[in-house]
Amino acid sequence: MSTLYREPYRPQFHFSPPAFWLNDPNGLVYHKGFFHLFYQHHPFSTQWGPMHWGHAISPDLVHWQHLPIALYPDAIAAIFSGGVVFDADNTSGLVPGGGLIAVFSYANQTQGLAFSRDDGLTWEKYSGNPVMPAHGEHFRDPHVFWHTPTRRWVMSLAVADCVHFYTSPNLRHWEFAGAFSAGHVAGLWEVPSLLPFEVEGKTVWVLLVSVLKAGPAGSGGLQYFIGDFDGHLFSNHHPPDTVLWADFGPDNYAAVTFHNAPHNRHILLGWMNNWEYANALPTRPWNGSMTLPRLLRLEKTPAGLRLCQTPYPEFRKLRHPLLITTTHTVPAGDNALAGLRGKTIELVLELFHPQDFTLVVHQGAVYHTRLTYDAARGTIEVDRTRCGDTAFHPAFARLFSAPLPAGAGLKLHLFLDESCLELFGAEGQTVITALLLSAPEDAGLELTAPQPLAIRHLEVYALHSIWGAPHSPHATAL
Ligand code: FRU
Repeated sequence: MSTLYREPYRPQFHFSPPAFWLNDPNGLVYHKGFFHLFYQHHPFSTQWGPMHWGHAISPDLVHWQHLPIALYPDAIAAIFSGGVVFDADNTSGLVPGGGLIAVFSYANQTQGLAFSRDDGLTWEKYSGNPVMPAHGEHFRDPHVFWHTPTRRWVMSLAVADCVHFYTSPNLRHWEFAGAFSAGHVAGLWEVPSLLPFEVEGKTVWVLLVSVLKAGPAGSGGLQYFIGDFDGHLFSNHHPPDTVLWADFGPDNYAAVTFHNAPHNRHILLGWMNNWEYANALPTRPWNGSMTLPRLLRLEKTPAGLRLCQTPYPEFRKLRHPLLITTTHTVPAGDNALAGLRGKTIELVLELFHPQDFTLVVHQGAVYHTRLTYDAARGTIEVDRTRCGDTAFHPAFARLFSAPLPAGAGLKLHLFLDESCLELFGAEGQTVITALLLSAPEDAGLELTAPQPLAIRHLEVYALHSIWGAPHSPHATAL
């Protein structure tokens, strides 16, 4: 049996390339029954290098088929991040009858186009590249969408520590429209994208930006702004010192959404990594994976509108139930998960009221990762300082925490894979994404509390691998 996708640390239900380096998701688009995932790829090394666009497709966002590399470096430069749009009316003149167009950055910070005349399988670069010259050292990551009211394509571009907007009738000629900066979170901005949401009959816009230096868990974070967009300018509803994070963990960067997803859903996918240590990760023969796809909503909360994320529901089909319980009380100090083991696990926990507890995952004789909820402070803390291999980079062994607003009860939704965790709390308002490099045999689970734990609902599932025949090699009910 092939050992590919069975290597230590290999995620079993997250996307990772068969081999070599992956960073940002690129060109996410749903087209004719398939979700297309392109990604920053170095096909000769497990470290970053001359960028290509890797390619995979999925009918359901759960199972993936790898396809040949879509875009190679050319005489201009290597291929950095960008998006793919469906040019239905052939505004570009490049896709008679309508087709997919990639709008990307070259490594020299000029912008280029490529088009596909076979629904995304093969790609040709536009002979007029680059379509936009470089303006400075950091001028990249175009995200393009069709703005119906102005009948123009709109591009957002990361320019040092702000976002510039450009408009175009045909994707080939672009005109500067406006700039947005917030000035509060310092450092380089990358991979911006602008998304419309309907809130009480009005369109409200979310501007997502990856910030390289400042993040809630150290370097690298996914920030968002809520505001208006008139086709030219984005205006923030909040003062510049309001900082909203889409993720409180260290490992969700360059996240973007799929264009044209069914039912107008916004489905987010991020690179599950952090530039600070990405090149040093000890995973082989690949390096890099994506987060779970997540559905985005803009919800009214007591603090105002907030971006909320829920894991893409199709993942339910990977479930193999280990434990389903309803109302019960676990005595203080007892393990509510006694007898369960697993590294690829989904856990849904609902408490009658917010109360302190500790959840230990990927637990072995020496190593473990600890999640601690502090009811008085309303926070959840993740401690991965002893998760397993932390020695490969000094910045990896970290503790981070997030506010976890609780109502009458408290609800958590946790996904564990071989080398990561994703936590969704407060109806998806609080998200933590973190890599954990734990040994294959460190599969213990423990949920304890200093007071009797009043559980309304607890579900634990082993999740089948998406790579190859359904099975769950690393999860068992003893
Ligand atoms: C973000 C980023 C982008 C760039 C790409 C290069 O992670 O630095 O700004 O286009 O990665 O691989």
